[in-house]
Amino acid sequence: MDSLRSIAAAHDVAIVEDAAHAVSAKYRGRWIGSNANPAAFSFYATKNLTTGEGGMLTGDPEFLDRVRVIALHGMSGDAWKRYSQQGSWFYEVVLPGFKYNMTDIQAGLGLAQLRKLERGQRRRRTIAEAYQEAFAKSDALEVPVERPDVEHAWHLYVLRLRGEALRIGRDRVIQELSQRNIGTSVHFIPIHLHPYYRDKYGYAPDAFPVAYDAFRRILSLPLHPRLTDQDVDDVINAVLDVVREFAR
Ligand SMILES: Cc1ncc(COP(=O)(O)O)c(C=O)c1O
Repeated sequence: MDSLRSIAAAHDVAIVEDAAHAVSAKYRGRWIGSNANPAAFSFYATKNLTTGEGGMLTGDPEFLDRVRVIALHGMSGDAWKRYSQQGSWFYEVVLPGFKYNMTDIQAGLGLAQLRKLERGQRRRRTIAEAYQEAFAKSDALEVPVERPDVEHAWHLYVLRLRGEALRIGRDRVIQELSQRNIGTSVHFIPIHLHPYYRDKYGYAPDAFPVAYDAFRRILSLPLHPRLTDQDVDDVINAVLDVVREFAR
């Protein structure tokens, strides 16, 4: 972020952070989202804090006031302001807006989730540390890195396989884990491989070699606060079993 900020300042451009996975993450001891520039968080069903769908925008208060108006038809007052005792029926449409607001019912879910967030994050961190310790020594596995100035949100735990140390590829590793009763996933499939973008722009798989290489090596292990210690052990044992059985 420091490098990005200095580039942005030098060229007088704005930074908008895609913080979809970053609720609870910190940079240099500060929460992601606590700076004046806009940061957008996702509260989709799979996220560390969920409202089913929806999200949160943080940033400068004046900017957020304007966003609230834009997100609700460009109206100067929402339903709370119009129908509560202190409210007024009067409102104005002050600009051409959108219907981009999250519902209050979802926000209620989010407030309950917020109370559990810190506990959940502690558990996620404990699980991630157990994985790091178990996998860091394996020749076949490259573990995620938490850089010194960063506190990871541990939304995902993404392992990278080292092809030179394994006789099987990522897809087969996923199958082998599934046979050992461990569900995994891949985050994410690069955009240029999806049919719409591939066909529209004529991309070959290796048009983006770094993304393509990463894609072929990654898999995400189970990571959520309700995993028991036994679950975590089961995951670790299954992963180590597969990489032992198929070591080169
Ligand atoms: C990096 C990134 N940006 C944006 C999104 C979209 O979030 P949402 O589903 O809340 O629109 C996601 C979803 O996971 C994401 O991973």
